[in-house]
Amino acid sequence: MTTEKALRPVLAFDVYGTLLDTGALADMMRDALGDQAEAVSEAWRARQLNLAFRRGLMGRYVDFALCTQDALDAVLKEGGHHLDEAQRKAILKGYGTLPPHSDTLAGLKALRAQDVTMVAFSNGTADAMRNVLTQAGLIDQFDALVSVDDIKRFKPDPQVYLHLMRTMGSSPDTTWLVSSNAWDIQGARHVGLNAAWVHRDCSVIEDEALAPTHTVDSLEALATWWSQCAP
Ligand code: LAC
Repeated sequence: MTTEKALRPVLAFDVYGTLLDTGALADMMRDALGDQAEAVSEAWRARQLNLAFRRGLMGRYVDFALCTQDALDAVLKEGGHHLDEAQRKAILKGYGTLPPHSDTLAGLKALRAQDVTMVAFSNGTADAMRNVLTQAGLIDQFDALVSVDDIKRFKPDPQVYLHLMRTMGSSPDTTWLVSSNAWDIQGARHVGLNAAWVHRDCSVIEDEALAPTHTVDSLEALATWWSQCAP
């Protein structure tokens, strides 16, 4: 990586939740689960993250897709939901066909038009990221994909943010995590990266010492702020 490239700001975008709308899972589950779809999809996402956090702490890293699968099976079983194998497979497949949020493509294009390096940065493997971003029509907006799978640890392990900077040849002051996940923002701030919080829900940052560098309500708003106040 050239020095010139390393000095350009690196914007590293979280994928699930930030670029892609995990809320769409409820619609995909409606046929099989009826009016339980919303609650089950929310429990599924929370369990998937909880499982990745616990497996990370235990040093039992697995492909994030397995956390997704195991979390769905646990939530269905605990809730007494009996799906046949075809329904279960269709729901799992839905995770690979998530749509972008309505502001995602325009926001990415407007940021890409500025002097920055665009990176997708996820707990998902590089293959999973490539596939899901391709089907969502977003892949062309990125210069690089960086996966935690390279070092077999999950966000928000400090090592994954350090891995991002090592891979991109960037330093904390020129590296920005862009995420809608409060826990991801705090993970990045903990190791000194800048962090732009795309505040898509009503979550709060529990630790004020790890407050985001900047907060916006959409990626389009981030692009506007960046064009006016680029650090
Ligand atoms: C990601 C999920 C965990 O890293 O938000 O893309």
